[in-house]
Amino acid sequence: MKLSIDNETKLIEEILQAYGVEKREATIVAEVITDGDLKGFSTHGLGRFPQYIKSIEAGTIKTDGDYEIEKESPSTALINGNHKFGHYVTVKAMDLAIKKASETGVGVVGIHNSNHYGIAGFYADLASIQDMIGIVISNTEPAIAPFGGNKALLGTNPITISIPSDDINNYICLDMATSITARGKLLEAKRKGEELPEGMALDKDGKPTTDPEAGLEGSILPFGGFKGYGLAFMFEILAGPLVAAAFGEGVKGTATPGVECTKGDLLIVIDPEFFAGSMQFKFYVDQFVREIREQNGVVPGDREVQNIATNYENGIEIDKVLYEQLTDIAKAKDLDITEYFEE
Ligand SMILES: NC(=O)c1ccc[n+]([C@@H]2O[C@H](COP(=O)([O-])OP(=O)(O)OC[C@H]3O[C@@H](n4cnc5c(N)ncnc54)[C@H](O)[C@@H]3O)[C@@H](O)[C@H]2O)c1
Repeated sequence: MKLSIDNETKLIEEILQAYGVEKREATIVAEVITDGDLKGFSTHGLGRFPQYIKSIEAGTIKTDGDYEIEKESPSTALINGNHKFGHYVTVKAMDLAIKKASETGVGVVGIHNSNHYGIAGFYADLASIQDMIGIVISNTEPAIAPFGGNKALLGTNPITISIPSDDINNYICLDMATSITARGKLLEAKRKGEELPEGMALDKDGKPTTDPEAGLEGSILPFGGFKGYGLAFMFEILAGPLVAAAFGEGVKGTATPGVECTKGDLLIVIDPEFFAGSMQFKFYVDQFVREIREQNGVVPGDREVQNIATNYENGIEIDKVLYEQLTDIAKAKDLDITEYFEE
């Protein structure tokens, strides 16, 4: 089953509005989810949509009310998401961080009481589109065991850094989990009935496993041994206690639908104009990228650019289980979404 990117956007907007989400919020959620699928992060695209619907039904994603700014200074803010959609809260928080960075050189915004937001890269890109550097760090419910231990206690804690460029051919963005792979990869493999590659996950007794279910009950390895674990540890703190969010076992609701989400996010925006100057900064960034390309080297973001072109052209594959989940979600609100899909 195939779904074009345009139809994916329409489908998400239509379903969300039927579930009581305001149009402006539904549009943002659709844009972020679609961006995930376009860039090839299917683990954080439409595949996660059923989770959000369950959370709306359980009331852990709220369709009423709004986020609020709890604390503010010229360059910082702390946002209470009031359990709105993570996609919506994070876009609004990023807009605020960008505004602060344009006024003071840096904007740092913390978020708590938000929800799972899909791909971190979407939000960092909002800054680079405006010629600023965007950094997003989050924590998630436990997936990585402490170095030396075997019970998951740290999240898959993603980081994204997106860098502006003057060259239309450059998209410079690193968007990654600190686990060897995002938890979504295990969820997707479980849904599709596939095995995991070796070296990704441990079962609850700390033994290597290729069974996604056993990995979800156990833990996912950090990338790069201790160094990946070390970064996950630090991000647990930067996106946890710093922003009045939970940490370690206290982080819930990012992968378990219907459970109140207690994770946190830290958004950092830097305006190069306040440092080397925007023109000079981008000039040297583009020179560096050219030097990498002279060796046929890969730039962070290259894979996403290729995926965007392919997925825009061909649409995305929807597996049978996901298709059934989506049609059930639609049927519950008397919607017929079959026309959006192609064989
Ligand atoms: N919302 C959340 O709580 C949460 C948590 C964890 C991860 N995520 C998201 O999950 C997504 C997937 O994360 P991941 O770490 O599994 O991604 P990944 O390992 O597939 O890729 C990580 C980064 O490395 C680049 N990359 C990897 N291999 C490459 C290659 N061979 N050539 C060129 N570039 C390459 C990718 O383009 C990407 O920028 C990200 O969008 C991340 O933000 C979200």
